Amino acid sequence: MTTPSSTSLTIRRAGEADVVEIVDLAQAAYRGEGGWTTEAHLVSGSRTHADEVRGMLADPAVTLLVAELEATEREPESPGAEEADAGTSGAAESAGTSGTSLVGCCYTRQDPADDAGTIRAELGLFAVHPSAQSRGLGGRLLESQADLLGQAGVDVLMIQVLQSRTELHAWYERHGFLRTGAAVPFPGDPEWLQVQGLGMDLMERPLRTS
Ligand SMILES: CC(C)(COP(=O)(O)OP(=O)(O)OC[C@H]1O[C@@H](n2cnc3c(N)ncnc32)[C@H](O)[C@@H]1OP(=O)(O)O)[C@@H](O)C(=O)NCCC(=O)NCCS
Repeated sequence: MTTPSSTSLTIRRAGEADVVEIVDLAQAAYRGEGGWTTEAHLVSGSRTHADEVRGMLADPAVTLLVAELEATEREPESPGAEEADAGTSGAAESAGTSGTSLVGCCYTRQDPADDAGTIRAELGLFAVHPSAQSRGLGGRLLESQADLLGQAGVDVLMIQVLQSRTELHAWYERHGFLRTGAAVPFPGDPEWLQVQGLGMDLMERPLRTS
C-alpha cells in the first residue's frame, strides 16, 4: 500500500484542461469555508463560471496562472516522514487517483499605457484552496505574476478588494500594495451582496521603480 507522503508544487500557465478545476477552486476559496479569509459572509452566488475562464484563456492581455500540487506516492516509512509534509498533505489527498490537483490560481489583465505612459495590470481570480491556505502559496502566486509583469514592462499592479475585508487589505499591504483612496462599485450582481452598498477599494503596487 502506498501513501501520498511527498509533494511538489508547480506554478504554470493555465490551459483548457484546467477550466473546471479553476471554477471549483475559486468557489471554494472565495465563497466557501475553512480558509483564513473568505467572502462567504459578504457575497453569495458563483464567483466565476467556465465561459468566463475560457474568455480569460483566449485573451492575449491575460496571464492566468495555476499552482498544481503533485503527490509522489511511496511505501510508508515512519510516522515522522509523513509529518514532514503535513503542510500540504491535506490538499494532496484531495488529488484522488491522478496524484495532482490545482490548489491555486491567479490572473492578471494588462491594460494599454495611459496618457502618462504608465502600464497597469489588474490582479484577479486570486484563490488558494482552503486546505492549502496560509502556507505561503498565495505569496508565491503573487510574486510569480509580479515577475512576469515586470519582465513585460508593466509598471503597476492593481487589485480591487471588497470593503470590510480588513484582514485582506492588511495582507496586500504586507505584499507591497497601498490603497489609492479610490473605490468602485461591486462588479457582480448587487443582489449577491449580503451587506448592501459594499464597494471595492482600489489598491496598487509599483512593479518598477524607474
Ligand atoms: C488571499 C489568498 C489567495 C492568500 O493565499 P494564502 O496561500 O492563504 O496566502 P499566504 O499563505 O501566502 O499568506 C497567508 C498570510 O495570512 C496570514 N494569516 C493566516 N491566518 C490569518 C488570520 N486568521 N488572520 C489574518 N491573517 C492571517 C499569514 O500570517 C500570512 O501572512 P504573510 O503573507 O504576511 O506571511 C487566499 O487566502 C484565498 O484564496 N482567499 C480567498 C479568496 C480571496 O479572498 N482572494 C482575494 C480576493 S481580492
